Formats: sequence, C-alpha cells, structure tokens
Amino acid sequence: MADPLALLTAWLPDGGAMTLATTAPDGGPRARTVLVTGVVDGGLRFHSSTPTGKTVDLAHDPRACGVFHWSDAGRQAVVTGRVHELDATVSDAAFAVRPPHLQRVAWLYDAVLPTLRGPRYEVDPSALDATTDVPARRPASWTTFALVPTTIEVWLGGPDRVASRTRYVRDGDTWAGVPVLP
Ligand SMILES: Cc1cc2nc3c(=O)[nH]c(=O)nc-3n(C[C@H](O)[C@H](O)[C@H](O)COP(=O)(O)O)c2cc1C
Repeated sequence: MADPLALLTAWLPDGGAMTLATTAPDGGPRARTVLVTGVVDGGLRFHSSTPTGKTVDLAHDPRACGVFHWSDAGRQAVVTGRVHELDATVSDAAFAVRPPHLQRVAWLYDAVLPTLRGPRYEVDPSALDATTDVPARRPASWTTFALVPTTIEVWLGGPDRVASRTRYVRDGDTWAGVPVLP
C-alpha cells in the first residue's frame, strides 16, 4: 500500500495551500486557507499568529480537516487528524527562513493584535515596504502547528482519466486502505 504522506510530500512543491477546517467553540464549522510548509515527523506544518480564530478553535478542539486541491494536476487530498503546537525552537528556525515580507506581516500582525475586535483589520501597505525594519527574531505571537493525519483520502482525476479515490487510515506506523464509504 502506498504511503499517502509520501505522496503529499511529493506534491507540496506544486502548492502548499490547504483549506483548514476546525470547529468553533460554539460547535459551528470554520475554514480558512493556510500554507503548509513541510511534512516533518508525520505532521503537516503550518504557521499562524495567535490568537486567531483557528488557534482559538484548535485550543478548544484539536481535531481538524485539511483539503488540498492541485487544479492543474487534477488532484485532491483530504486529511483529518489532530493539530498540536510545536516547540518554540521549531518556530524560531522556521521564522528565520521565512520570506522577509512574511516576516514583516507577522510583526505587523503582532502590533495590531491587541486592537483586533472589529469585523475587519487592515495593514497599511507602506508598512510592508521592503525598507521597513523588523527584528530578525519572530514575534512571540507567531507559532507553528502540526496537523498529524489519521486519515488521508486521495482523489485523482483530470480530463484524460477516470477519477479514482483511495482512502487510507493510519495503522501505527503504516497506512491501510479502507472502503471510501463509512
Ligand atoms: C493563499 C493564502 C495563504 C494563507 N496562509 C496562511 C497561513 O499560512 N497562516 C495563517 O495564519 N493565515 C494564512 N492565510 C490567511 C487565512 O486564510 C485567514 O484569513 C487568517 O489566518 C485568519 O483566519 P482565522 O481567523 O480563521 O484564524 C492565508 C490566506 C491565503 C489566501
């Protein structure tokens, strides 16, 4: 049986944008896009400032679902599992190699965090100017999470082939194929 995490790792260079669905404290669904920067120790890593809606949701219920769609390749992967926050040292290292404009976004977000009470927030684009100095270290509000999958469903389609769907469930260190319908 193929290793679906190895598949995901191979496909990430085609784009790491993942729709991350969580459960809000009131029980309702919430979803948003995050960028998965790698698969390490069986976990899909992404970064976020905190608190945000997603970090509030995950503190309340760590279960999550992530959906990748690679439209050019006609592929989709749907992942379910639990999310946990990684050590500060992981975030320190990840921030150091983050593109400079995203480092600036993290610092700008850190600055507006205390005022985030309305339906919208906006960062002055001039504050993202490449000449704007920000500290080399990460703001304490910027952190790293890992979504550790327990199920992965891979859908392969495209105009030139019949769609296929394979569902994998983690079985210890390996993955087993299971029927796609519950
Ligand atoms: C392409 C794309 C990538 C994004 N990547 C991230 C990300 O890696 N981390 C993040 O916190 N927000 C990211 N965002 C912003 C989120 O989608 C979201 O608007 C924000 O994190 C607030 O969501 P929340 O209040 O549900 O936590 C991204 C948005 C887009 C469109």
